[in-house]
Amino acid sequence: MMKIKPLHFGDVTIDFPVVLAPMAGYTDAAFRSICKEQGAGACYTEVTSAEGIRRDSQKTFQFLKVSELDHPIAGHIFGKSVEAMVEAAQYIEKLGCFDWIDLNCGCPVKKVVRRGAGAALMKEPEEIGAIVRAVKNAVSLPVTVKTRVGFSPAFPDHLTIAKIVEDAGADMIAVHGRLACNFHKGDADWEKLGEIKQAVKIPVIGNGGVFTAEDAMDMVRISGVDGVMVARGAVGNPWLFEQIKDPTASLPTLGNRREVVEKHLSRLVELTSSTAEGRRRKAKYDPLQAACLHFRPHLAQYLKGLRGRRVLLQELNNLKTVETIMDAVDNVMEQNQ
Ligand SMILES: Cc1cc2nc3c(=O)[nH]c(=O)nc-3n(C[C@H](O)[C@H](O)[C@H](O)COP(=O)(O)O)c2cc1C
Repeated sequence: MMKIKPLHFGDVTIDFPVVLAPMAGYTDAAFRSICKEQGAGACYTEVTSAEGIRRDSQKTFQFLKVSELDHPIAGHIFGKSVEAMVEAAQYIEKLGCFDWIDLNCGCPVKKVVRRGAGAALMKEPEEIGAIVRAVKNAVSLPVTVKTRVGFSPAFPDHLTIAKIVEDAGADMIAVHGRLACNFHKGDADWEKLGEIKQAVKIPVIGNGGVFTAEDAMDMVRISGVDGVMVARGAVGNPWLFEQIKDPTASLPTLGNRREVVEKHLSRLVELTSSTAEGRRRKAKYDPLQAACLHFRPHLAQYLKGLRGRRVLLQELNNLKTVETIMDAVDNVMEQNQ
């Protein structure tokens, strides 16, 4: 059984600090609710552009939809300018449905880094310090940072970054144990996470490379972090949270998988339809089609290892309703009874 204590920062308590990471394109309210039901202790929104909030962009606001099941939840924003990050944080606070604000300082995607945001901030961590300080002064919600163990070996290291984040007043730091220049390649360095844990007093959540309950236990044993953040390991396997909580919990049956696939897809349709209602411009796909398309990478993972999966994924673009998708899923399940 994993020994992990509830995590407190500001007025947030995460009873079981094994949390769902922010993942652009994945961690919308539908997927978050599925992970929360399977035991995730907290979650983050998809990454949301501070400039987008400033420009009043509808596309941006769709990332800030929150359901009752999400709490505790962080509004996760990225940007370079202190002013934009402050305005975005104040906007999120005013929405009244977030428990804390998280600042993205680790995204290595080219279009983000080119603008000097995300992982680029780690090249000059004082910029992170300036953003954290200004946002802390501007809002009363707790403010946290999600970062990595550095940009590349040529730039400031994990301890320098973590100390600056702490000194600027952040309430908690979540660290992905890979350099930004390595994206997702190679193993996450859990020893470096341990060095950060030793160096700062604020709570540290470790991230990177947790795909099984054993991985989570190893990360905590090696690094001593206060919490564990799971990203790719939860896609197609939201049961991972329950398994980390109780490694003796039984593995999901085909029936469990089917049930969650249907629930997840239905919630996605609901979410996409409600987002479409508020849209001024006509979207490229109708809400049902958009939800089915969006569900594809999830479905690929839910059905991983099952006979008939490849054929279903090839046909998926022609399946445009929940019923036809579920018929095809049933067909796959039957082949694997
Ligand atoms: C598809 C995808 C989207 C991601 N989007 C974000 C994001 O929006 N913000 C962020 O801080 N990290 C993002 N990440 C990084 C994850 O939060 C996490 O740090 C990384 O995947 C390592 O964790 P893992 O080994 O458990 O997957 C993303 C990762 C993936 C795979």
